[in-house]
Amino acid sequence: MKTDLAHSFQRLAYCPPPFLFGQVDLDIALDPAKTIVKSRIEVLPNPANALAQASSLILHGIDLEFMSLRINGTPHRHFELTPETLTIHSLPEDGAEPFTLEVISICVPEKNTSLMGLYVSNGNFFTQCEAEGFRKITYFLDRPDVMARYRVTLRAIKADFPVLLANGNLVATEELPNGWHSAVWEDPFPKPSYLFALVAGKLACIEESITTGSGATKLLQIWVEPQDLPKTRHAMDSLIHSIRWDEARYGLELDLDRFMIVAVGDFNMGAMENKGLNIFNTKYVLAQPETATDTDFANIESVVAHEYFHNWTGNRVTCRDWFQLSLKEGLTVFRDQEFSADQMGSESGRAVKRIEDVRLLRQLQFPEDAGPMAHPIRPDAYQEINNFYTVTVYEKGAEVVRMYQTLLGIDGFRKGMDLYFARHDGQAVTCDDFRMAMADANGRDLSQFQHWYSQAGTPRVRVQTHFDGKAQRYTLSLSQSCPDTPGQNNKKPFHIPLRTQLVFAHGESVDQSLRAERLLELTDTTQTWVFDHVPSEPVLSINRGFSAPIVLEFDQSEADLLTLFTKDDDAFNRWEAGQKLAMQWILAGRTPDAALLETYRLILQDPQLDPAFKELALTLPAETYLYEQCASVEPQTIHANRKAFREAMAQHLQPEWQRLYEAMQTPGAFKPDAVSAGKRGLKNLALGMLLIANPAEWAERAQQQYTLANNMTDRYAALAHLVQNNAPESIACLADFYERFADDPLVVDKWFGLQATCPPTPHNPAASLECVTTLLSHPAFSYTNPNRVRSVIHSYCMGNPAGFHMRDGRGYQFWAEMVQKLDAINPQIAARLARALDRWTVFAEPYQGQMQAALQAVAASKTLSADVNEVIVKALGNR
Ligand code: TRP
Ligand code: ZN
Repeated sequence: MKTDLAHSFQRLAYCPPPFLFGQVDLDIALDPAKTIVKSRIEVLPNPANALAQASSLILHGIDLEFMSLRINGTPHRHFELTPETLTIHSLPEDGAEPFTLEVISICVPEKNTSLMGLYVSNGNFFTQCEAEGFRKITYFLDRPDVMARYRVTLRAIKADFPVLLANGNLVATEELPNGWHSAVWEDPFPKPSYLFALVAGKLACIEESITTGSGATKLLQIWVEPQDLPKTRHAMDSLIHSIRWDEARYGLELDLDRFMIVAVGDFNMGAMENKGLNIFNTKYVLAQPETATDTDFANIESVVAHEYFHNWTGNRVTCRDWFQLSLKEGLTVFRDQEFSADQMGSESGRAVKRIEDVRLLRQLQFPEDAGPMAHPIRPDAYQEINNFYTVTVYEKGAEVVRMYQTLLGIDGFRKGMDLYFARHDGQAVTCDDFRMAMADANGRDLSQFQHWYSQAGTPRVRVQTHFDGKAQRYTLSLSQSCPDTPGQNNKKPFHIPLRTQLVFAHGESVDQSLRAERLLELTDTTQTWVFDHVPSEPVLSINRGFSAPIVLEFDQSEADLLTLFTKDDDAFNRWEAGQKLAMQWILAGRTPDAALLETYRLILQDPQLDPAFKELALTLPAETYLYEQCASVEPQTIHANRKAFREAMAQHLQPEWQRLYEAMQTPGAFKPDAVSAGKRGLKNLALGMLLIANPAEWAERAQQQYTLANNMTDRYAALAHLVQNNAPESIACLADFYERFADDPLVVDKWFGLQATCPPTPHNPAASLECVTTLLSHPAFSYTNPNRVRSVIHSYCMGNPAGFHMRDGRGYQFWAEMVQKLDAINPQIAARLARALDRWTVFAEPYQGQMQAALQAVAASKTLSADVNEVIVKALGNR
């Protein structure tokens, strides 16, 4: 195990770069087997670092074949190469004066399976440079605080690569001898190397011209493989909506004449905000009603928005170093969440979006914050930066940004944003710079708020209430604490904004001021609030809208929770009360009683409530979220309890489900808007329930829906319910589905994913694993395509709890084998899978011991990447 030797980068060790780059000219002759990159860089001593002036220049470079080096036009022999650096000595004037550096190097895109740097996907060239991929293209100061102007000449054989794209504006094209051609692209904005991009190949685009607020005309393009052109409309609409929204809400305009999105089938993440040339996983671009679900449509809208919003929050103002990643990611996730909420078109729609975002946070980020990889949204150390593109940096980061808005109001937040851009446009800055802009623009002291950046772990707020009926006095005491996390004990108190309201359930006449929502700011360890003239004991609705990313420790009575579930006028807390009830009952192994079932029935019948809200209110907490509530996790028991609870809901509410299945039909042409999607969601929840309650009748109805559906949402939902209920009809439907969509990789991913997440049957606990093993030998399976790998391997290990957590540990052995196999191909994808056993120490035996053995098996490998090594070592706790 190479474990403890691993190098770790420290936030506090930051030093400004000794040199800056002015103009950068790249000339790239694209050839899958041998791409020649010639760079010409204007190197300038960094005035900000005059004292620490360096007489050598250390450039990053990985997997490059070095060819030649010139300084000021003359060949230069004073340099050293290591596998990761090129160090240049004997600089002109000892590095005190500007000079021109010319380097020629070679890379091999067709052999690059890491999908970082320059690579080939389906015969076309693509790049991915964030975070440190540019160093796999050419020798460079590959760090975000070095911002340069790029002029890029691309050359390639025209017949094979007719389209040549890079950042910025197209300034020249030329036909060259021997069937080659070239294109010159110039990006007028200085940028860090991680925002560089090029694309070359056989691609086609849809385009549209728009006029922005200031009257400028902009060209928008979406580039895909020609057969996918009919699936680009929704992405284009999403882009236009995003541009309009950023103008209206923040006064931010598109700054380039041309903005391009390119879709690629092999991609490590969702998408990338390269300046003017966003590169997207096809999953977040391509959609048609026949092939994409409502969720796909919504995800595309939000990822298109996210990458577009990065143009200001990320590109114009970027990160000083990678420890500041949440500066751009937390802020941009917050912005895309707000955008999507605004697209919902109603207040209750906004609440649905909020619930979905919080559900994701609690299902994924809370476990991360409680596990061996726990880190603050601004980490202090890392071994491999790729491991820190986490739900903590992204989603908890967005919650932290949201708390500014909660504390300062929408207008105050906007003032802070305006000041942030006024101060820092064109700069590479820190999370503290953002916090100071928010504070200064509003004349507020936000110094305590910095703990949200420096401390890991989910804070816990303990709630105690007391009602003195005689004195008509209600007392609320809150105390906060935060669990220890790796390397961090004894946390300081956070600044916690809690939207709070007293709910009077029986129509008491109480003063309006007593009924109004107020914002409590918990800053001390313990604080008390006193409410006078309170005629009767209220029900407390606290942390409304999930105003702070905390765990509430509040022993609220079942009666009070039922009151909130039926009456709270904050839709989030209404949903929350229902989740809490269901959670307590499932963990106790109980099925719903008459009172709870009656509440469910009333919610399903309430004409005031959105179908989308009803669906969320009747969806049970995820198994992984339930794990977090247990001192010792028994995964099979939790699965069985949850299943029994759902069966009771299915049985006892059968007439309701039947009524809804009819009432929520959406006849006519498919529309992906939130209202129609909500109806389909509720209808398909009903279908699943009916299939549980009465399979004899409803398996046939499900098969009918599968066959007759005019859209993927309904077709896939019917198929999924048939498969998950082991209905005999599922066999024919699965076969039909594959045959129908065999040519569409994104739909084939759904086919793989559905089978990999299917829970095992009671008589064969190994059924899921057996199914997954069969899928791996299917001719359409591939270990090099991340989407396909995720649809089978990650889906099984992270999305099929009952199938993965087998008592004999065979699920974990499979995991260990796959982590090692994938690591040799693509370390980022392997490291993500490695995280599946993060929470091994909270599992009961025999699971825990089996997990430890699997982790040790991986740790024993001698060839682990830095990515996987960091995850495994932290999981085992050898720190
Ligand atoms: N900046 C991208 C985003 O959040 C994230 C990203 C895309 C990324 N591809 C990557 C990060 C590859 C690391 C490696 O939108
Ligand atoms: Zn992002």
